[in-house]
Amino acid sequence: MAIGATAGVAAVGGIALSAQAADGADSSSSSDALAFDPDGYTELTTTVTDTDGDDKEVVYHFWKAITYVANPVDEDYQSLNVSVPVKIDGEAVDASDAPILFANSVGGYMPSSVADATGIGGGGMSGGGGMPSGAPSGSAAPSPSASNANGNTNGTGGALSTNQLLALAAGYVVVEPGARGRTLKNADGEYYGTAPAAIVDLKAAVRYVRFNKGRIPGNTDRIVSAGTSAGGALSSLLGASGDSKIYAKYLKELGAADASDAIFATGAWCPITDLEHADGAYEWNWGTNDLSTGEQVDQTVSKELRSQFAEYQATLKLRGLNGFGTLTARNYDEYLVKQYLEPSATTYLKSLSDSDRETYLAANTFITWSGGKATFTWADFLTHVGARKKTTPAFDAFDLSTGENNEFGKGTTETRHFTAYGLKNDTTGLTAKRLDSDIPEMLNLMNPMYHLGQKNPGRSKHWWIRLGTEDSDTSLTVSANIAAAAAGLGDDVNHLYYWDQGHGANTDPGDFIQWIAKVTGYKKK
Ligand code: DHB
Repeated sequence: MAIGATAGVAAVGGIALSAQAADGADSSSSSDALAFDPDGYTELTTTVTDTDGDDKEVVYHFWKAITYVANPVDEDYQSLNVSVPVKIDGEAVDASDAPILFANSVGGYMPSSVADATGIGGGGMSGGGGMPSGAPSGSAAPSPSASNANGNTNGTGGALSTNQLLALAAGYVVVEPGARGRTLKNADGEYYGTAPAAIVDLKAAVRYVRFNKGRIPGNTDRIVSAGTSAGGALSSLLGASGDSKIYAKYLKELGAADASDAIFATGAWCPITDLEHADGAYEWNWGTNDLSTGEQVDQTVSKELRSQFAEYQATLKLRGLNGFGTLTARNYDEYLVKQYLEPSATTYLKSLSDSDRETYLAANTFITWSGGKATFTWADFLTHVGARKKTTPAFDAFDLSTGENNEFGKGTTETRHFTAYGLKNDTTGLTAKRLDSDIPEMLNLMNPMYHLGQKNPGRSKHWWIRLGTEDSDTSLTVSANIAAAAAGLGDDVNHLYYWDQGHGANTDPGDFIQWIAKVTGYKKK
């Protein structure tokens, strides 16, 4: 509902917003074109149901589809929405110093646009979804371009909308950036949204917000990123790679604003990341679980990949949280059980009524419930989860059929291998002996573990990470490794697993909103 729309093309400091810099613009003219128009909003009203079930009426100012780079490749994706609460339940709020929730809605490494949104959390042309469940990586799925991000049924987009709405009702500013994605193709047949486009776009959007300090409401030094799945991967990458120089040439090409792209805190749900090591991690975790068809994957391939995980994990030299020693392929099962899975089951069981708990325990006899604590073995946990979602290799498929193969496409080449093992076993007729020479750089550009390994000083120092225990879209070690790496650098890490939840779950959004207040030190005025 629009109340007194004031949207327009008002000039800021004499520079019209629509004045896009021409190609090759220097940073000063691109900067002028990137000035945020404080008056260019529409006033909207929405009702937010908070986590206690109470309705709050929020009046907010909504800026729609602002192009965030001076030389956009595709404005439909390289634009962002801004929502700023001005009245909550009839009381005026001043969000000028509030944290900024920077919530992407990327799913499946697909394009995400906010251009069609009619208000906060409204999604866009293709954002807000997860990887389509009908086209899991590594399955006999159709070509990646047949995928879209809207097939998600388990709440990926909904989770993000929930975060965004709750943030607004808490008095925070919400920025929703769009970003290019892997399937975008121009008239010459060139893919222009494959790696590293999405992360470069998100960084450019952060720079835009920072650059507009004083013009855009909110505290630009308290940007908190959020995203789920591929969006969670990009959120954690944004957090780990703040101000890294390896993106400089890409940002320059786009005419990104001349400002820092470091963010203050990172929220990541089920991040699908560390892609070049994810095949090994997947087999270490789910290798012996059947597919939903009841079949097992090729156990020779599975074992080879599993041993790659052991090597990789050893090179990381990460220490587990809470004094657990160095994490290895030999002890990671025990680590996951003790650090994450048993506490997760315990929290869940405690939340049930006595009779519901009894029913659950009677149906799940692998759990021992004693002294208010759940215990079980890793093997029984794997049986409990049941079917694995993906075939093997889960990410760099021999037949180049995964979304990730497309994510590493380049130019007119739709899909590429990004691991030596995937290439070596290629079934599509490729004869190359080596990966393309740009792949190592692409992998660094896309991997938060690379930046954490570099101890990047510009990284976010606060991490909120969440993952469902039944999520076999990737290995359970992926997010645990991010958490261990960040904690090892002294960062503040809050990582929990949601018991019996699948891909895209967000069951404690209210806690996330409170966590933002805590880590940013924000008190609503
Ligand atoms: C997503 C899911 C996947 O299984 C994957 O490989 C990549 C992305 C997603 O939901 O975004």
